[in-house]
Amino acid sequence: MQPETLLAHDAERHPNGAVVPPIFQNSLFTFESWDDIDHAFDHRLDSFIYTRGKNPTVKMVEEKLAALAGGEKAQLFPSGMGAISAAVMHCIKAGDHVVAVKNLYGPANNFLTAYLKPKFNLEITFVEGKAVAEFENAIQSNTSLIFLESPSSAVFSLQNISAVAALAKSKGIKTIIDNTWATPLFQKPLAMGIDLEMHSCSKYIGGHSDVVAGVLIGKAELIDSISLREYEWIGAKMAPFEAWLLLRSLRTFTVRVKQHQANAKVVAEFLDQHPKIELVRYPGLDHFDQKELAHQQMTGFTGLMGFQLKTTDLPSIKKFVNSLELFQIGVSWGGHESLIYAPAISYLKELSPDQFEALGISLGDMRISVGLENAQDLIEDLNQALDGIV
Ligand SMILES: Cc1ncc(COP(=O)(O)O)c(C=O)c1O
Repeated sequence: MQPETLLAHDAERHPNGAVVPPIFQNSLFTFESWDDIDHAFDHRLDSFIYTRGKNPTVKMVEEKLAALAGGEKAQLFPSGMGAISAAVMHCIKAGDHVVAVKNLYGPANNFLTAYLKPKFNLEITFVEGKAVAEFENAIQSNTSLIFLESPSSAVFSLQNISAVAALAKSKGIKTIIDNTWATPLFQKPLAMGIDLEMHSCSKYIGGHSDVVAGVLIGKAELIDSISLREYEWIGAKMAPFEAWLLLRSLRTFTVRVKQHQANAKVVAEFLDQHPKIELVRYPGLDHFDQKELAHQQMTGFTGLMGFQLKTTDLPSIKKFVNSLELFQIGVSWGGHESLIYAPAISYLKELSPDQFEALGISLGDMRISVGLENAQDLIEDLNQALDGIV
């Protein structure tokens, strides 16, 4: 089945002819006999016993996402960070070394450096990640994990997924990729040799800005092991209602993502030629510096992009942001609505100007999530806000 058909039908079970399945909003499941519950415990990965483990509504979403990504199994989590922390903890032990891209999603970076490093003596090497040699040089005898995010949601730089996965495999190192930006429609890291594909389902997979969730997808043995340990024992379970909302979201997923792509192309090209814009960071642009790699490992591009205003005058930068009418100011991305966020809002609180610059981001950097509104209306909104500044 092609993705469009798969997401409309696959894995859904509809009792009594219901066109949409009901929510299994229950904490436990009952059994006819001692032997039946005994058998369920012997096959707990395929049984419904208690919703901190498996739940039928959650499972329907997991099956759809695994099929879409070309993975054997998926495990949903109540947030993308839940999926990231479970994946990392599964792959490492105290004293191990991790190689990660330096523009990793901020809280994932904090989890490694401010939590695991002091608590478990984890060693971490951050690399820019554009060249495979950076990973090769960073690997140590105790490296157990390589953590990628391609494209990164901060500066939109790519890593060569197949090459890094092959390198890691040759040394027995596990690989995780945050594939949230490209989505499981446009980039298939598991087919490129990655062990764990992670998504924040709070972005395009949810798509309506009403669900926070995450997922890990990979080989059955690895996912089962995470399901039984980090998922069940840490105990942050996926809520059946949120899973049911994701089922709703997945039915329109391909249509939405393709429209985000079409709108983003128009907006990126508009910004790219505007005299008050210094640069646009968007892998779908013709002059994107890693264009060849982008087309080699992705079949499409979504709606999150960065751009830099020419002005470095903070009052003008604030005026630009505040005078947008359709782009609402907010974190996150991937929903139906267009959003704007200035990375400086967070970075100025947490980092020194030098650290800020080392990340390759400046005061005038903006990040926009291009939504599903009419692209021409979005351009007009950006245009009027740009007209208002020097
Ligand atoms: C690239 C990326 N990865 C992971 C996450 C974390 O996902 P969640 O917010 O669902 O925990 C986010 C959230 O903004 C993100 O942007």
